[in-house]
Amino acid sequence: MPDFQIGEKVALVTGGATGIGLEYVRYLLQHGLKGITILDINEEQALKAIEELGPNKVHFIKTDVTKKQELRDAFKESVQKWKGLDIVINNAGIMNDSSWELQVALNCNAVVEGCLLAFKYMSKHYGGNGGVVVNAGSILSLREFSGCPIYTGTKHFIVGLTKSFGTPYFLNLTGVRFLTMCPGVTYTPLISEAGRFALTDFPKIAEILVQDLGSYPAQQPEDVAQGLITMITKGENGSVWVSEGGEPVYEVILPDLKTWRKK
Ligand SMILES: NC(=O)c1ccc[n+]([C@@H]2O[C@H](COP(=O)([O-])OP(=O)(O)OC[C@H]3O[C@@H](n4cnc5c(N)ncnc54)[C@H](O)[C@@H]3O)[C@@H](O)[C@H]2O)c1
Repeated sequence: MPDFQIGEKVALVTGGATGIGLEYVRYLLQHGLKGITILDINEEQALKAIEELGPNKVHFIKTDVTKKQELRDAFKESVQKWKGLDIVINNAGIMNDSSWELQVALNCNAVVEGCLLAFKYMSKHYGGNGGVVVNAGSILSLREFSGCPIYTGTKHFIVGLTKSFGTPYFLNLTGVRFLTMCPGVTYTPLISEAGRFALTDFPKIAEILVQDLGSYPAQQPEDVAQGLITMITKGENGSVWVSEGGEPVYEVILPDLKTWRKK
């Protein structure tokens, strides 16, 4: 089992100005991080966060992570600022099936680019020290959901991507561990506004979305952040974790060749 120490490490979190990402920043700092960079489009919220957390250990770079060059520049600036990088959390995401192209660009494309940049700066085969990448899945990564089918598809993508980078081939070559965090319903703006962004061409789909989300056990962002610390310090490469209902985070075993055949 890994025994990764967070103390004196450097992290980068996308979408860290609000919601779950901001709690990640708080919890990582509480665990002794040397420095952390927040990449977000929401400058106002990010500056508020820095006011609260102090500028010594938190750096903000206004970045639209769907813009490849902005994301690349931001990684470079962060590495120069802290003289290293150890933990990357590709957290920024939206639930918005009515703007599904943007949703795919953010929930999928930007995560792919974030993983490739994590390799660029942390991989041993590029001269780095290795590290950890956590990608934002969801409990909807692991099941079907009629209220937001395209969002659900983007979150399934995250599991396939992260488990595939989280294989022995990549770990041996790069020293970078890959983990998927799958939060359940968590009180953030993403959830409170979800009904506004459902597909428009299907009757009652927004009501179904809100009603079905309401049937899941809910929690606060700090519950997810607590789980993140467990995952980062102890999570096996490629592992997938669920944080729901304020319970301790748990690892999920997905069916494979030997167990997936319907009896
Ligand atoms: N809240 C939940 O119930 C829940 C459940 C499962 C998974 N998730 C996932 O967790 C992650 C965080 O969600 P959240 O609930 O904290 O959402 P949130 O809306 O509270 O926060 C998302 C953050 O991402 C930022 N962001 C949006 N577009 C961006 C862009 N193009 N570039 C940079 N930053 C951008 C926002 O400004 C915001 O700070 C998402 O990937 C989401 O899909 C959330």
